[in-house]
Amino acid sequence: MKEITVSKLSYSYPGEKSALKDVSFRLNPGKKLAILGANGSGKSTLIQHFNGLILPQQGTVQIGGDLVAKGNLKTLRQKVGIIFDQPDDQILASTVSEDVAFGPRNLRLSEEEVRRRVTKALEQMEIAELGEASPYELSLGQKKKVAIAGVLAMKPEILVFDEPFSGLDPASREGLKKALDALHKLGHTLIFTTHNVDIAYQWADQLLILKEGRVLHSGDVNALEDEKLVSRGNLELPTSVKILQGTGITGNSPMDMNRALKEALSIEK
Ligand SMILES: Nc1ncnc2c1ncn2[C@@H]1O[C@H](COP(=O)(O)OP(=O)(O)O)[C@@H](O)[C@H]1O
Ligand SMILES: [Mg+2]
Repeated sequence: MKEITVSKLSYSYPGEKSALKDVSFRLNPGKKLAILGANGSGKSTLIQHFNGLILPQQGTVQIGGDLVAKGNLKTLRQKVGIIFDQPDDQILASTVSEDVAFGPRNLRLSEEEVRRRVTKALEQMEIAELGEASPYELSLGQKKKVAIAGVLAMKPEILVFDEPFSGLDPASREGLKKALDALHKLGHTLIFTTHNVDIAYQWADQLLILKEGRVLHSGDVNALEDEKLVSRGNLELPTSVKILQGTGITGNSPMDMNRALKEALSIEK
Protein backbone atom coordinates (compact mmCIF):
# COMPACT_ATOMS: atom_id res chain seq x y z
CA MET A 1 0.00 0.00 0.00
CA LYS A 2 1.16 3.49 -0.85
CA GLU A 3 1.70 6.32 1.58
CA ILE A 4 1.94 9.89 0.31
CA THR A 5 4.78 12.12 1.43
CA VAL A 6 4.88 15.76 0.39
CA SER A 7 8.05 17.55 1.35
CA LYS A 8 8.69 21.31 1.08
CA LEU A 9 6.61 21.58 -2.06
CA SER A 10 6.40 25.00 -3.71
CA TYR A 11 4.80 25.90 -7.02
CA SER A 12 4.17 29.08 -9.03
CA TYR A 13 2.19 29.35 -12.25
CA PRO A 14 4.08 31.27 -14.95
CA GLY A 15 4.03 34.98 -14.16
CA GLU A 16 1.93 34.52 -11.00
CA LYS A 17 2.78 34.77 -7.32
CA SER A 18 3.28 31.37 -5.75
CA ALA A 19 0.30 29.01 -5.46
CA LEU A 20 2.01 26.59 -3.01
CA LYS A 21 4.73 27.48 -0.51
CA ASP A 22 6.76 24.97 1.45
CA VAL A 23 3.93 22.44 1.80
CA SER A 24 4.82 19.29 3.79
CA PHE A 25 2.62 16.50 5.11
CA ARG A 26 2.26 12.72 5.21
CA LEU A 27 -0.75 10.54 4.60
CA ASN A 28 -0.90 6.87 5.53
CA PRO A 29 -2.58 4.39 3.18
CA GLY A 30 -6.31 3.80 3.53
CA LYS A 31 -7.05 7.20 5.06
CA LYS A 32 -9.71 9.72 4.13
CA LEU A 33 -8.06 13.14 3.86
CA ALA A 34 -10.03 16.37 3.53
CA ILE A 35 -8.15 19.34 2.08
CA LEU A 36 -9.85 22.55 3.19
CA GLY A 37 -9.09 26.16 2.36
CA ALA A 38 -10.58 29.32 0.90
CA ASN A 39 -10.78 29.87 -2.87
CA GLY A 40 -7.32 30.23 -4.32
CA SER A 41 -5.59 28.66 -1.29
CA GLY A 42 -3.89 26.07 -3.53
CA LYS A 43 -6.07 22.95 -3.09
CA SER A 44 -6.43 22.11 -6.79
CA THR A 45 -2.78 22.92 -7.49
CA LEU A 46 -1.71 20.56 -4.70
CA ILE A 47 -3.81 17.58 -5.74
CA GLN A 48 -2.66 17.81 -9.36
CA HIS A 49 0.82 16.99 -8.07
CA PHE A 50 -0.35 13.58 -6.85
CA ASN A 51 -0.33 12.01 -10.32
CA GLY A 52 2.04 14.42 -11.99
CA LEU A 53 -0.50 16.55 -13.88
CA ILE A 54 1.64 19.26 -12.33
CA LEU A 55 5.29 18.43 -11.60
CA PRO A 56 6.98 19.84 -8.48
CA GLN A 57 9.09 22.96 -9.09
CA GLN A 58 10.63 22.84 -5.63
CA GLY A 59 10.39 20.06 -3.07
CA THR A 60 9.11 16.54 -3.67
CA VAL A 61 5.99 14.40 -3.76
CA GLN A 62 6.37 10.67 -3.18
CA ILE A 63 3.73 8.02 -3.69
CA GLY A 64 4.78 4.88 -1.85
CA GLY A 65 8.42 5.80 -2.28
CA ASP A 66 8.13 6.69 -6.00
CA LEU A 67 8.93 10.32 -6.75
CA VAL A 68 6.40 12.21 -8.82
CA ALA A 69 8.63 12.97 -11.79
CA LYS A 70 8.53 12.78 -15.57
CA GLY A 71 9.90 9.26 -15.86
CA ASN A 72 7.28 7.78 -13.50
CA LEU A 73 4.08 9.21 -14.88
CA LYS A 74 2.73 6.05 -16.51
CA THR A 75 3.06 3.98 -13.33
CA LEU A 76 1.83 6.82 -11.14
CA ARG A 77 -1.36 7.27 -13.10
CA GLN A 78 -2.27 3.64 -12.53
CA LYS A 79 -1.84 4.14 -8.79
CA VAL A 80 -3.45 7.56 -8.42
CA GLY A 81 -6.73 8.57 -10.08
CA ILE A 82 -7.95 12.17 -10.03
CA ILE A 83 -11.59 13.10 -10.50
CA PHE A 84 -12.31 16.77 -11.23
CA ASP A 85 -15.41 18.69 -10.25
CA GLN A 86 -16.80 19.18 -13.76
CA PRO A 87 -17.83 15.69 -14.92
CA ASP A 88 -18.89 17.07 -18.34
CA ASP A 89 -15.23 17.78 -19.08
CA GLN A 90 -14.39 14.12 -18.57
CA ILE A 91 -17.05 12.55 -20.80
CA LEU A 92 -15.32 10.70 -23.62
CA ALA A 93 -17.91 8.43 -25.28
CA SER A 94 -21.59 8.13 -26.19
CA THR A 95 -22.53 5.41 -23.69
CA VAL A 96 -21.63 5.09 -20.04
CA SER A 97 -20.00 1.67 -20.58
CA GLU A 98 -17.83 2.93 -23.43
CA ASP A 99 -16.93 5.99 -21.41
CA VAL A 100 -15.78 3.88 -18.46
CA ALA A 101 -13.92 1.52 -20.85
CA PHE A 102 -11.79 4.37 -22.23
CA GLY A 103 -9.07 4.30 -19.56
CA PRO A 104 -8.55 0.53 -19.31
CA ARG A 105 -8.54 0.27 -23.10
CA ASN A 106 -5.71 2.79 -23.16
CA LEU A 107 -3.78 0.41 -20.93
CA ARG A 108 -4.03 -2.08 -23.84
CA LEU A 109 -5.77 -4.70 -21.70
CA SER A 110 -7.66 -7.54 -23.37
CA GLU A 111 -11.26 -6.76 -24.32
CA GLU A 112 -12.40 -9.36 -21.79
CA GLU A 113 -10.47 -7.66 -18.99
CA VAL A 114 -11.80 -4.25 -20.09
CA ARG A 115 -15.39 -5.58 -19.93
CA ARG A 116 -14.75 -7.13 -16.52
CA ARG A 117 -13.36 -3.88 -15.12
CA VAL A 118 -16.22 -1.80 -16.57
CA THR A 119 -18.87 -4.10 -15.09
CA LYS A 120 -17.18 -4.06 -11.69
CA ALA A 121 -16.67 -0.27 -11.64
CA LEU A 122 -20.32 0.35 -12.55
CA GLU A 123 -21.42 -2.05 -9.82
CA GLN A 124 -19.16 -0.40 -7.28
CA MET A 125 -20.72 2.98 -8.03
CA GLU A 126 -24.21 1.40 -8.04
CA ILE A 127 -24.94 2.50 -11.60
CA ALA A 128 -24.91 -0.92 -13.32
CA GLU A 129 -28.29 -0.14 -14.91
CA LEU A 130 -26.89 2.95 -16.68
CA GLY A 131 -24.37 1.08 -18.88
CA GLU A 132 -26.17 1.77 -22.15
CA ALA A 133 -27.30 5.31 -21.24
CA SER A 134 -25.76 8.41 -22.77
CA PRO A 135 -23.54 10.16 -20.22
CA TYR A 136 -24.97 13.50 -21.35
CA GLU A 137 -28.50 12.58 -20.29
CA LEU A 138 -27.64 11.85 -16.67
CA SER A 139 -28.12 13.93 -13.53
CA LEU A 140 -25.07 15.65 -12.06
CA GLY A 141 -24.89 13.04 -9.28
CA GLN A 142 -24.97 10.21 -11.84
CA LYS A 143 -22.37 11.93 -14.04
CA LYS A 144 -20.05 12.22 -11.06
CA LYS A 145 -20.48 8.49 -10.42
CA VAL A 146 -19.66 7.72 -14.07
CA ALA A 147 -16.51 9.85 -13.83
CA ILE A 148 -15.48 7.96 -10.68
CA ALA A 149 -16.25 4.58 -12.32
CA GLY A 150 -13.96 5.60 -15.21
CA VAL A 151 -11.13 6.14 -12.78
CA LEU A 152 -11.95 3.01 -10.73
CA ALA A 153 -11.67 0.89 -13.87
CA MET A 154 -7.98 1.81 -13.88
CA LYS A 155 -7.75 0.18 -10.42
CA PRO A 156 -5.89 2.99 -8.66
CA GLU A 157 -5.10 2.59 -4.97
CA ILE A 158 -5.43 6.30 -4.32
CA LEU A 159 -8.49 8.27 -5.39
CA VAL A 160 -8.32 12.06 -5.43
CA PHE A 161 -11.44 14.21 -5.80
CA ASP A 162 -11.58 17.94 -6.49
CA GLU A 163 -14.72 19.31 -4.81
CA PRO A 164 -16.74 16.09 -5.23
CA PHE A 165 -19.76 17.36 -3.28
CA SER A 166 -20.13 20.76 -4.90
CA GLY A 167 -23.44 21.37 -6.62
CA LEU A 168 -25.10 18.17 -5.36
CA ASP A 169 -28.47 18.14 -3.62
CA PRO A 170 -28.49 16.44 -0.19
CA ALA A 171 -29.75 13.07 -1.51
CA SER A 172 -27.10 12.87 -4.25
CA ARG A 173 -24.48 13.99 -1.75
CA GLU A 174 -25.40 11.18 0.62
CA GLY A 175 -25.45 8.73 -2.30
CA LEU A 176 -21.94 9.77 -3.31
CA LYS A 177 -20.69 9.58 0.27
CA LYS A 178 -22.07 6.05 0.56
CA ALA A 179 -20.35 4.98 -2.66
CA LEU A 180 -17.06 6.53 -1.52
CA ASP A 181 -17.38 4.89 1.89
CA ALA A 182 -17.62 1.51 0.19
CA LEU A 183 -14.35 2.27 -1.65
CA HIS A 184 -12.75 3.40 1.59
CA LYS A 185 -13.74 0.09 3.21
CA LEU A 186 -12.05 -1.76 0.35
CA GLY A 187 -8.84 -0.01 1.39
CA HIS A 188 -8.60 2.83 -1.12
CA THR A 189 -7.00 6.03 0.12
CA LEU A 190 -9.45 8.89 -0.48
CA ILE A 191 -8.38 12.50 -0.77
CA PHE A 192 -10.89 15.26 -1.40
CA THR A 193 -10.91 19.04 -1.50
CA THR A 194 -13.93 20.85 -0.12
CA HIS A 195 -15.26 24.09 1.31
CA ASN A 196 -17.71 22.12 3.38
CA VAL A 197 -16.42 22.08 6.96
CA ASP A 198 -19.30 19.83 8.06
CA ILE A 199 -18.31 17.06 5.63
CA ALA A 200 -14.64 17.42 6.56
CA TYR A 201 -15.41 17.30 10.30
CA GLN A 202 -17.84 14.40 10.23
CA TRP A 203 -16.53 12.31 7.39
CA ALA A 204 -12.75 12.69 7.01
CA ASP A 205 -10.20 11.09 9.30
CA GLN A 206 -7.37 13.46 8.51
CA LEU A 207 -7.32 17.13 7.67
CA LEU A 208 -5.10 19.53 5.77
CA ILE A 209 -5.98 23.22 5.84
CA LEU A 210 -4.29 25.49 3.30
CA LYS A 211 -4.06 29.25 3.48
CA GLU A 212 -2.52 31.24 0.64
CA GLY A 213 -0.56 28.20 -0.47
CA ARG A 214 0.80 27.35 2.97
CA VAL A 215 -0.16 24.60 5.43
CA LEU A 216 -2.23 26.13 8.23
CA HIS A 217 -3.00 22.76 9.84
CA SER A 218 -2.08 19.17 9.12
CA GLY A 219 -3.49 16.40 11.30
CA ASP A 220 -6.62 15.78 13.30
CA VAL A 221 -10.10 16.87 12.08
CA ASN A 222 -10.91 18.01 15.62
CA ALA A 223 -8.80 21.08 14.85
CA LEU A 224 -12.03 22.38 13.29
CA GLU A 225 -13.33 22.92 16.83
CA ASP A 226 -10.70 25.67 17.23
CA GLU A 227 -12.43 28.95 16.44
CA LYS A 228 -9.19 30.91 15.98
CA LEU A 229 -7.68 28.40 13.58
CA VAL A 230 -10.90 28.16 11.60
CA SER A 231 -11.16 31.91 11.23
CA ARG A 232 -7.50 32.22 10.22
CA GLY A 233 -8.26 29.74 7.45
CA ASN A 234 -11.26 31.87 6.35
CA LEU A 235 -13.50 28.94 7.21
CA GLU A 236 -16.51 28.48 9.49
CA LEU A 237 -16.94 26.29 12.53
CA PRO A 238 -18.79 23.05 11.70
CA THR A 239 -22.54 23.28 12.41
CA SER A 240 -22.41 20.69 15.20
CA VAL A 241 -19.58 22.60 16.90
CA LYS A 242 -21.59 25.83 16.71
CA ILE A 243 -24.55 24.07 18.34
CA LEU A 244 -22.34 22.53 21.04
CA GLN A 245 -20.55 25.82 21.76
CA GLY A 246 -21.25 26.82 25.32
CA THR A 247 -22.53 23.40 26.36
CA GLY A 248 -19.05 22.26 27.38
CA ILE A 249 -19.47 19.12 25.28
CA THR A 250 -17.36 18.31 22.29
CA GLY A 251 -17.87 15.56 19.78
CA ASN A 252 -18.94 15.15 16.22
CA SER A 253 -21.41 12.30 16.16
CA PRO A 254 -25.20 12.72 16.04
CA MET A 255 -25.26 10.98 19.45
CA ASP A 256 -22.98 13.62 21.00
CA MET A 257 -25.20 16.31 19.54
CA ASN A 258 -28.35 14.67 20.78
CA ARG A 259 -26.90 14.34 24.25
CA ALA A 260 -25.79 17.97 24.29
CA LEU A 261 -29.15 19.20 23.09
CA LYS A 262 -31.01 17.12 25.66
CA GLU A 263 -28.79 18.42 28.41
CA ALA A 264 -29.02 21.99 27.18
CA LEU A 265 -32.80 21.74 27.11
CA SER A 266 -32.90 19.60 30.29
CA ILE A 267 -34.99 16.95 28.61
CA GLU A 268 -35.08 13.65 30.47
CA LYS A 269 -33.58 10.69 28.64
N1 LIG B 1 -3.88 27.73 -14.49
C1 LIG B 1 -3.52 28.74 -13.68
N2 LIG B 1 -2.76 29.77 -14.13
C2 LIG B 1 -2.38 30.78 -13.31
N3 LIG B 1 -2.70 30.84 -12.00
C3 LIG B 1 -3.46 29.85 -11.50
C4 LIG B 1 -3.91 28.75 -12.31
N4 LIG B 1 -4.64 27.91 -11.53
C5 LIG B 1 -4.65 28.47 -10.30
N5 LIG B 1 -3.94 29.61 -10.28
C6 LIG B 1 -3.70 30.47 -9.09
O1 LIG B 1 -3.04 29.69 -8.12
C7 LIG B 1 -3.56 29.93 -6.83
C8 LIG B 1 -4.12 28.63 -6.24
O2 LIG B 1 -5.23 28.22 -7.02
P1 LIG B 1 -5.97 26.83 -6.83
O3 LIG B 1 -4.95 25.77 -6.63
O4 LIG B 1 -6.92 26.69 -7.96
O5 LIG B 1 -6.75 27.07 -5.46
P2 LIG B 1 -8.09 26.40 -4.89
O6 LIG B 1 -8.28 25.09 -5.61
O7 LIG B 1 -7.82 26.26 -3.44
O8 LIG B 1 -9.20 27.37 -5.16
C9 LIG B 1 -4.61 31.03 -7.00
O9 LIG B 1 -3.99 32.27 -6.74
C10 LIG B 1 -4.99 30.90 -8.45
O10 LIG B 1 -5.42 32.15 -8.96
MG1 LIG C 1 -9.89 24.37 -6.68
